[in-house]
Amino acid sequence: MNQDELKQAVALAALETIRPKLERESIIGIGTGSTANCFIDALAQVKQLFDGAVASSEASAERLKSHGIPVYDLNSVNEIQFYIDGADESNERLELIKGGGGALTREKIVAAVADQFICIADESKLVPLLGTFPLPVEVIPMARSYVARELVKLGGDPVYRSGFVTDNGNLILDVHNLQINVATTLEEQINNITGVVTNGLFAVRPANLLLLGTQQGVKEYR
Ligand code: A5P
Repeated sequence: MNQDELKQAVALAALETIRPKLERESIIGIGTGSTANCFIDALAQVKQLFDGAVASSEASAERLKSHGIPVYDLNSVNEIQFYIDGADESNERLELIKGGGGALTREKIVAAVADQFICIADESKLVPLLGTFPLPVEVIPMARSYVARELVKLGGDPVYRSGFVTDNGNLILDVHNLQINVATTLEEQINNITGVVTNGLFAVRPANLLLLGTQQGVKEYR
């Protein structure tokens, strides 16, 4: 199977995982990116089984709506049973790097609300040590240079994602060459820099289940 087929396989596996637990009033949290898009397309086939979705980006909201799936504002929702999203990297502890698509802050918010975070990814995303993928950090625009200097003090090489503005009107610094030994500690350290909105480490709140698409089938990590 090629990478696209692996993404479709994990999207279908995620659908089969949540399908028996869906109720007429269920609201599903939806991530961002090419793997999440596969899940949205699969979810459309069972849209009569649940109420609607909360999206982690404008792009995902548009895709959901194009399938006729109602999209709710998170503030109007009491409970999200499942959050389904891809990742740029995962380790076996289900700590993730996310935000390659720049949607990390809204992704982290929806993941925080959800009871269960199911991460879906092809096998290229599973790594022994996080950090080969540059860590995205969302930054308030006026703090860009200050935050970049602080990230250098933490051992990283921040690169401004030129020409990119997040759905929240902010900027992204992609941080190369970070030593991510204890992901929870680094996540908190970076989030404590004034001017940082959030960073793409999902370690304080890791995924609950990783469905990994491999040539041998979809593997489950918990
Ligand atoms: C979006 O901001 C990211 O967190 C995505 O979840 C991540 O980049 C994975 O994207 P793909 O599924 O396209 O690889």
